[in-house]
Amino acid sequence: MKITVITGSPRKNGNTFAMTDAFIEAAKAKGHEVVRYDAAMMKIGGCHACMTCFKTGKACSFDDDFNRIAPDILDADAVVFAMPVYWYSIPAQIKGVIDRLFSFVVGGKDIAGKKMGLICCCEEDDTTVMDGVKIPMERTAALLKWDIAGEVLVPGVFEEGDINKTDGCAMAAALADKF
Ligand SMILES: Cc1cc2nc3c(=O)[nH]c(=O)nc-3n(C[C@H](O)[C@H](O)[C@H](O)COP(=O)(O)O)c2cc1C
Repeated sequence: MKITVITGSPRKNGNTFAMTDAFIEAAKAKGHEVVRYDAAMMKIGGCHACMTCFKTGKACSFDDDFNRIAPDILDADAVVFAMPVYWYSIPAQIKGVIDRLFSFVVGGKDIAGKKMGLICCCEEDDTTVMDGVKIPMERTAALLKWDIAGEVLVPGVFEEGDINKTDGCAMAAALADKF
């Protein structure tokens, strides 16, 4: 399988990246091809709603780094999103990517049938704090006709390294078994 992984944390030594690394290592060990994009380190703005998707030969007429990711979403058998919770919601760093999935819909691309994975963490101990990420991502999958392969949702991690006090990385590695 070709798996495209897209992260949304700006912390290279943070909890999301640690889980992402664990997932990717396990996925590669299973023989999957993995392509990774760290959206926080890329230049990716929001959707302009110009409705000209794919009309200029590229996914988005506003040519930023989303156009680097788009072909690897189109090509992928599976897409895994990994992000922390920011203010009970999806971080701005990755929201531009998610909003611009719209380009595949407007552009009439057939992207149904992919698998999707979600890796998420937050500071508070209450798992429902991640609803602001989990629910929109599940609805996104439903709209795009993607099957959710699995979700790793880890509450109670704040500082870099806190993930190592949990089974988050082990669960992220186990997520690779679902693809
Ligand atoms: C701007 C910002 C907003 C945050 N908002 C929340 C929040 O609403 N709820 C929560 O539980 N944690 C919140 N956090 C904490 C992060 O989710 C937590 O530190 C997480 O482990 C960060 O993941 P990372 O190390 O991968 O960046 C916030 C952190 C930042 C920087």
